[in-house]
Amino acid sequence: MFSYRHAFHAGNHADVLKHTTLIAIAQYLVQKDTPLSVIDTHAGAGLYRLDGDFAQTSGEAMEGIARMLSADPATLAPALQTYLAMVQSFNPGAHLRTYPGSPALLLQVLRPQDKLRLFELMPQDARALLGNAEQLLEGRQAQVLMEDGFANAKKFLPPPDRRGLLLCDPSYEMKTDYAKVATFIDDSLRRFATGCYAVWYPIIGRQEAHDLPKRLKSLAAKAGKNWLHATLTVKSGKLQTLADGSVKRPGLPASGMCIINPPFTLHAALEAALPQMVALMGQDKNAGFTLESTGR
Ligand SMILES: C[S@@+](CC[C@H](N)C(=O)[O-])C[C@H]1O[C@@H](n2cnc3c(N)ncnc32)[C@H](O)[C@@H]1O
Repeated sequence: MFSYRHAFHAGNHADVLKHTTLIAIAQYLVQKDTPLSVIDTHAGAGLYRLDGDFAQTSGEAMEGIARMLSADPATLAPALQTYLAMVQSFNPGAHLRTYPGSPALLLQVLRPQDKLRLFELMPQDARALLGNAEQLLEGRQAQVLMEDGFANAKKFLPPPDRRGLLLCDPSYEMKTDYAKVATFIDDSLRRFATGCYAVWYPIIGRQEAHDLPKRLKSLAAKAGKNWLHATLTVKSGKLQTLADGSVKRPGLPASGMCIINPPFTLHAALEAALPQMVALMGQDKNAGFTLESTGR
């Protein structure tokens, strides 16, 4: 069950899309003084070594965050500038050694009055997350729960101040995860209709992956809520035949973010950032983005 380790993928193009979007949402939501409750249903380890064995084996960060950091920040969209400055703050000096996962990035944005709940089921990652979160707290409130985020996040819904952000970012290692995400969002919207829900999903040749954004949009429409859907493709997903006749899997070619109740500022923020992600991380002529939303 637990073969997925985010450490292999930390800082890849999917993390760039997910975390740029997440920070833009969180920064908008902390503009009001009222406490914000944030839930990360699949939190991972919180911080990742990019010079460790996992990341070096896959090299995914080199095609993702490393390319983004090679750009002159002054030329980038504000949402990218903010995200990249946060990643840089974990990397004093010239070398990119550490990639902050969603818990570390969220702790950068949240204030002492806000609450962060981090679900991570895998014992090894949950222990690492606990240690990393303690290091990063600096007066902020976070709770690590070694529990199933799909089943147990509901105990915190609705939050007392009715202001909340949920990130749902499973590994989709099992194809049942797609249906679990839709059921989880449906149930959460019934408990807390005004919450902001951010769902990441991979774009791969699987019917469930293709259907998930459609299901999320119709759940939002049924609840009378706005949605935003952004996708980023960096390369073709087709198998490649190499000169020696062997076949190479391309790795994850694309991913998407579906947001229910997005901040009204998010569409414009991503409209500026997505073409720059394509320009910097695109690997072939299939690279591109899509962006659509209601309520504009
Ligand atoms: C894609 S990673 C999360 C990455 C993280 N959100 C980030 O952006 O840095 C998914 C994580 O979910 C964990 N996981 C898998 N099933 C889970 C479940 N039912 N509840 C909570 N965590 C789970 C995995 O161990 C893995 O660390």
